[in-house]
Amino acid sequence: MEGPASGFVADALIAEDIDAYLHQHQHKGLLRFITCGSVDDGKSTLIGRLLYDSKMIFEDQLAALEADSRRHGTQGQEIDFALLVDGLSAEREQGITIDVAYRFFATEKRKFIVADTPGHEQYTRNMVTGASTADCAVILVDARKGVLQQTRRHSYLVHLLGIRHIVLAVNKMDLVDYDHSTFEHIVADYRAFAKEVGIEEFSAIPISGFKGDNITRAPSENTGWYGGPSLIEHLESVEVAATAAQERPFRMAVQWVNRPNLDFRGFSGLIASGTVRPGDPVRIVPAGKTSKVKSIATFDGDLDAAVSGQSVTITLEDEVDCSRGDVIAAAGDPPEASDQFRATFVWLSEQALKPGRGYWLKLGTQTVTANVQEPEYEIDVNTLDRLAAKTLELNSIGVADFATDRPITFEAYESSRQLGGFILIDKFTNATVGAGMIQYSLRRAQNVHWQPTTVTREDHAALKNQVPRVLWFTGLSGSGKSTIANEVEKRLAVMNRHTFLLDGDNVRHGLNRDLGFTENDRIENIRRVGEVAKLMADAGLIVLTAFISPFRAERRMVRDMLAEGEFIEIFVDTPLEVAEQRDVKGLYAKARSGQLKNFTGIDSPYEPPENPEITVNTVEMTPGEAAQHIIDAILPLK
Ligand code: ADX
Repeated sequence: MEGPASGFVADALIAEDIDAYLHQHQHKGLLRFITCGSVDDGKSTLIGRLLYDSKMIFEDQLAALEADSRRHGTQGQEIDFALLVDGLSAEREQGITIDVAYRFFATEKRKFIVADTPGHEQYTRNMVTGASTADCAVILVDARKGVLQQTRRHSYLVHLLGIRHIVLAVNKMDLVDYDHSTFEHIVADYRAFAKEVGIEEFSAIPISGFKGDNITRAPSENTGWYGGPSLIEHLESVEVAATAAQERPFRMAVQWVNRPNLDFRGFSGLIASGTVRPGDPVRIVPAGKTSKVKSIATFDGDLDAAVSGQSVTITLEDEVDCSRGDVIAAAGDPPEASDQFRATFVWLSEQALKPGRGYWLKLGTQTVTANVQEPEYEIDVNTLDRLAAKTLELNSIGVADFATDRPITFEAYESSRQLGGFILIDKFTNATVGAGMIQYSLRRAQNVHWQPTTVTREDHAALKNQVPRVLWFTGLSGSGKSTIANEVEKRLAVMNRHTFLLDGDNVRHGLNRDLGFTENDRIENIRRVGEVAKLMADAGLIVLTAFISPFRAERRMVRDMLAEGEFIEIFVDTPLEVAEQRDVKGLYAKARSGQLKNFTGIDSPYEPPENPEITVNTVEMTPGEAAQHIIDAILPLK
């Protein structure tokens, strides 16, 4: 997910192909663009045509194509270009193109990478992937159908993902007899819609991917009324995003610290924006230390200046702390660092977003834990309406506030894709579940200092003559958590230990009385209890908690909040049948009869710990034995 050829969503480029190809056309500028269209808009035909006209098809593929076209009944000289593109990726079997496919071609002036993304409703994910790195989008419209719901959706997404150059390619002009007024009509329709989305400018080109009109040269003899450039000519002139970013202040996210020997310490990364020269004052964000650039090293020697889009190694005049994840920036105009911000994001997982849960958030070279709040609203991509939402489902887009466990350095996505775009990763499955674009920070971390306290955490613990611990009991309702935790606390008291027991039923009467038993409420319940347990551990206490805490993710979150070794997960392993049979509070009976909804083990899940520090089996042990087993396992406590 790093390196010059990538945006915030991993690219599916085939490294070897692209290397060989780019090497051949090294001296030329590179434009990345994306094509979007509905299923029958002729996208594959157009891309096939671009590849064909720029002679990027290999001889054997061409022969196969001609044979295929004959078989598919295409007449005479004409080749079915759709067969070329679809055939290359075996997507044809599906009837629709499903994944993002990247194709390469070049003209005299430029080389191009085109992300071919599907038009089908389900595949927002692919469009996000393709668009996140593109400089330009070609939105295809069938001249016979005009602007469709799909066109609107694509345009909205493309704009949201920060593409500022949009081409409206009115395709299949041959099928409307190259009628000028049809073209003008569609352009006017699109202009009205574009304004709504915030697209201020776009270029409209009448084309026929099938016949080749206005693809390489313009105007074609069939569209004498058209005065603009051909599609290729236009793509050759579009400004590349990296070039535009040169005008902005200097920023480079450090990918790694290059330290081949004791005499050299350089910071390597891709310049996200601006220009840098030796002697320039820079600031390391978020720490804030300043220094000056000593040299800019590359593979081919030192440089006098480097600009956005270049990968370099920078050395500094001073020995400042700087490591992977830090951003080196223009000293006078650094980006902000904050642990709270608002973002627009696309949800990419079959499992709906769980507000309050911690996800990995990866922004460039920085990785932190982020909690997503309940969405402010969801955006209906078809109507652009803002809908009330408690969560986000697959492919939906929403706006929410994020809180990270430590400050990250960023810019609004609008200003910088590299420093404003992020992905969310599920901590357990490692799957990418969301892609987001930061709007603005909710507060500056610089203004919210940790209050330095004179009596430290260590002092608190030393005064109590013990090492703090959080003994985290988890298990089904009625498994015996509270009973055993209570036994453990009694024994610790006898041993002169300072403890506190936080119990689910009790905390739910006070601190958490606003919470019920939906998944979201349980997540929030555990988050709060985790924070309280942490404060108590800071106060030097041995904290015992007895909560079902059914989800691994939240138990892990609490573990991550505490110092290494402080969190002790105790699995009170009581089979459901046994807990149900005991049914001390009569709740299982109620749940079975349908009077109590979302009951753990019945119609709400419980995820047992995978690697608990301690397991107690309440079928084989009495509460007293279980408590002693735990005490033995956690000693010494000094
Ligand atoms: S947790 O899932 O959020 O960790 P917690 O431990 O605080 O749950 O509360 C569980 C206790 O609440 C149970 O022992 C039971 O007494 C009571 N309770 C009431 N309704 C439910 C329910 N639907 N599911 C589980 N426990 C419930």
